[in-house]
Amino acid sequence: MRRSGARCRVMTTDAAALARLRWRTAEPADAIAVARAVDEWWERRLNHCVQPQLFEHFGDSTFIVEDEGELVAFLVGWLSQRYPDAGYVHFMGVRSDHRRLGLGRELYRRFAALARERGRTRIMAETGAFNTRSIAFHRSIGFTIEPGDEVVDGVAIHHDRIGIGGDYVVFSMDLRDAAL
Ligand SMILES: CC(C)(COP(=O)(O)OP(=O)(O)OC[C@H]1O[C@@H](n2cnc3c(N)ncnc32)[C@H](O)[C@@H]1OP(=O)(O)O)[C@@H](O)C(=O)NCCC(=O)NCCS
Repeated sequence: MRRSGARCRVMTTDAAALARLRWRTAEPADAIAVARAVDEWWERRLNHCVQPQLFEHFGDSTFIVEDEGELVAFLVGWLSQRYPDAGYVHFMGVRSDHRRLGLGRELYRRFAALARERGRTRIMAETGAFNTRSIAFHRSIGFTIEPGDEVVDGVAIHHDRIGIGGDYVVFSMDLRDAAL
């Protein structure tokens, strides 16, 4: 009984935390908070991924989540120009104290809904080959890993050819049969 009471309290706290969150699309000024987050939330430096132009031009397909005015999660994505059937997620993250509450999945659910509304049938994303947590997360929410240059520890990786961010993994999800 005590155990189930404790579980109930945790769930209530999580529900209250989630209810407090503010979800919105991005403005150019959000680049500042996201740049800071990328510095703090990732295990490796990925600052080269953040450019203010992304928020200027793709703000309407980029999601910002705030808790009492502070950034706690985001997803930067857009509709592919080269592939008219695809949406692409450039990067996304959840602050460590807000992880495992379903925010990452919800960010992707919202991006998938937006992509579907705009006629896209698949979404793609990438993550650093070092980022085993992200690989587990993407697989768990329904992404499959695309073939790469080499398979390392059972994961197909693409080699970094221009020397900016290391080897990476490419994910895709068919929205026509996805649960997301
Ligand atoms: C990867 C990340 C976005 C996941 O966000 P999150 O909000 O914690 O994810 P969710 O709560 O939606 O998790 C959904 C499922 O993914 C899987 N998952 C999430 N984090 C995981 C982890 N650390 N290890 C293994 N599986 C994990 C689980 O199956 C989870 O479901 P469960 O909690 O019911 O078991 C978050 O850990 C993060 O921001 N990491 C740093 C930045 C980053 O790597 N971004 C992604 C690359 S661009």
